[in-house]
Amino acid sequence: MTSRPCLLQNTALPPALDARLEAAFDVVRLPSPPAAAGLLAEQGARFEGLVTSAAVGADAALMAALPALKIISSFGVGLDRIDLAAAARRGIAVGYTPEVLDDCVADTAIGLLIDVARRLSAADRFVRAGRWPGARFPLTTKVSGKNLGIVGLGRIGRAIARRAEGFGMAIRYHNRRPRVDVGYGYEASLPELARWADFLVVAAAGGSDTRHLVDRDVLDALGPRGFLVNVARGSVVDEAALVDALLNRRIAGAGLDVFADEPKVPEALFGLDHVVLLPHLASGTEETRQAMADRVFDNLQRFFAEGRLVSAAPLPDPLPTDQA
Ligand code: 8YV
Repeated sequence: MTSRPCLLQNTALPPALDARLEAAFDVVRLPSPPAAAGLLAEQGARFEGLVTSAAVGADAALMAALPALKIISSFGVGLDRIDLAAAARRGIAVGYTPEVLDDCVADTAIGLLIDVARRLSAADRFVRAGRWPGARFPLTTKVSGKNLGIVGLGRIGRAIARRAEGFGMAIRYHNRRPRVDVGYGYEASLPELARWADFLVVAAAGGSDTRHLVDRDVLDALGPRGFLVNVARGSVVDEAALVDALLNRRIAGAGLDVFADEPKVPEALFGLDHVVLLPHLASGTEETRQAMADRVFDNLQRFFAEGRLVSAAPLPDPLPTDQA
């Protein structure tokens, strides 16, 4: 009988995925510190696979404690918590779950955009508080036909753009490089995009390259009639600058699914009606989480059967010099 590959799991996963993994592999859960160090010291050499998530990831120290590691399979599309350069140096394959969550994240971006402009959540609070008989809810801001700036026109950014076309919105985007496969206008300067936009939606990957890309200057360019929506990573926005801009009404409002230090949300935002706050739920539907779980499993299964992944993470850019 051939032995089953041994996996280390350092994150909580949907129970059905746990069960599927346990049926096919020998799975060991990494305990919280300080017990984690002991387990890694005693058993680290057993593990050929690591199952993680976008929220937890894998740093170089963890990979170093797993000398037999061949594959990391991550639940999520974000790679900002996985040290891709360290994995590439070791030849460790990294699988993730792109594409399957594009629709739900884009749906959430549009939902936040409409909510913050039309004040749906605030109006719901108004009705529940019994205020309707005594007052009129204030007029809000029209969405259809407005200017939409997208920061990061990857798969999710394009899914947002396709939806916004249905609202007759004019669409421009900012990326590291212009895309040749879209007809939307490219704006090399993010402040210029923000100045033009009525709505600025952040859909860029997280990580050091995009940290605080949306800073005070960008928010001031968006201005008191502009709205910010973020479904990417809290790190892409300078959160202190955003809180300041919202408190002082230097932007019109914000719809936020992600924060700099989740699950902590700046309490200064709690009392603001021109802000919509979500608990990082964009991919959180039954259908999409099932599809993500399937991709985590399929990446592992195909890797151990055929030596390749269904969805391989892009190699770090630039490739570490010792691999170039
Ligand atoms: C997940 C995400 O909810 O895929 C990502 O990168 O941020 C979300 O879809 C979550 O991070 C899974 O751990």
